[in-house]
Amino acid sequence: MKVPFLSFEHMHVPLKKQMQEAFEKFYDSGYYVLGNFTTSFEEQYAAWNHTKYCIGISNGLDALTISLKALGISARDEVLVPSNTYIATWLAITNIGAKIVPVEPDPQTCNIDPRQIAEAITPAAKCIMPVHLYGQACEMERIMQLAAQHNLAVVEDNAQAHGATFKGKPTGSWGHANAVSFYPGKNLGALGEAGAVTTNHLHIADTVKMLRNYGSKVKYMNELVGYNMRIDELQAALLTVKLQHIDNWTAQRREIAGWYNDLLKGVGNLILPVTHPDATHVYHLYVIRTKHRDALQQFLGANGIGSLIHYPIPPHLQNAYTFLGYHKGSFPIAEQMAETCLSLPLWPGMSYAMTEEVCFRINSFFNQL
Ligand SMILES: Cc1ncc(COP(=O)(O)O)c(C=O)c1O
Repeated sequence: MKVPFLSFEHMHVPLKKQMQEAFEKFYDSGYYVLGNFTTSFEEQYAAWNHTKYCIGISNGLDALTISLKALGISARDEVLVPSNTYIATWLAITNIGAKIVPVEPDPQTCNIDPRQIAEAITPAAKCIMPVHLYGQACEMERIMQLAAQHNLAVVEDNAQAHGATFKGKPTGSWGHANAVSFYPGKNLGALGEAGAVTTNHLHIADTVKMLRNYGSKVKYMNELVGYNMRIDELQAALLTVKLQHIDNWTAQRREIAGWYNDLLKGVGNLILPVTHPDATHVYHLYVIRTKHRDALQQFLGANGIGSLIHYPIPPHLQNAYTFLGYHKGSFPIAEQMAETCLSLPLWPGMSYAMTEEVCFRINSFFNQL
């Protein structure tokens, strides 16, 4: 049996008619930018996320960039960010000319470690960017306490964790301005590029709204030096259809993760995902770790099982960031994760038999070592 890393089939086939109807309404509306679909999606996403405001943005990276900009982070300000995130979080900081301060993760949860944040705060620090990596909420209570103590802004990178919570409060509702991605493969994915900023602060929402639209509230009146970072109206229409199903899809993701946890317990030298007791996980990715990662991935591929590495090279070792002067050994926890992590197939609709097949192959691999 072949098991692809990701399949949209179970999500998209049953929704085809509704999606086509949404497209037709969009088509017939004759209004293709920042129209009623955007407003309606923003209202519904904000309500679902328990935040006062949601502002649709072109994609997740732009949502991160515009969040930092709206909070007044600028050149020379230091922004604390995980050493083991997807490069987009770092790029947002570079986009506004601020200084990246990498902070190592907790080796258990893989999320930014609040103890290490405390040690990295200097008088130049202005912002913390926790990333809810793989779908697990960061220790937001401690992070918000640290931010309040040191007068720092918080921008959550909520690209991977739609619906996760810490102490019952959703990701994307803790920080001052928070970015979410609706890239197609995300738990709530558009059929193209899309993202959003969520916030509980009216003045931040207003600023983000202006910044995404050339710095303008009233047409041809420009208050700020803005961008064109508007969400695509068609994507907003399609996302509204998909939003109605996210809780069901998350439940399925959790069930599959539970099957993996049971079937992979005690197999080889695998490290399985660990969830902090106060956090919930929405399993955007189910990431195992082993020093035999490369051989295991090859073996799985040869047996029809898809897998991916999130992420093979940490940002500080990417060519794009050689100018920061880091080298191998600068952030050993992030580097070790990059060398050992492997994401297994996990998508709504994946069957128990498929999960068993993946685990059977992993077992076979460790038995022949
Ligand atoms: C952690 C993280 N941050 C930011 C992004 C950027 O989102 P987008 O691809 O929508 O720009 C992604 C997704 O690619 C991500 O995984």
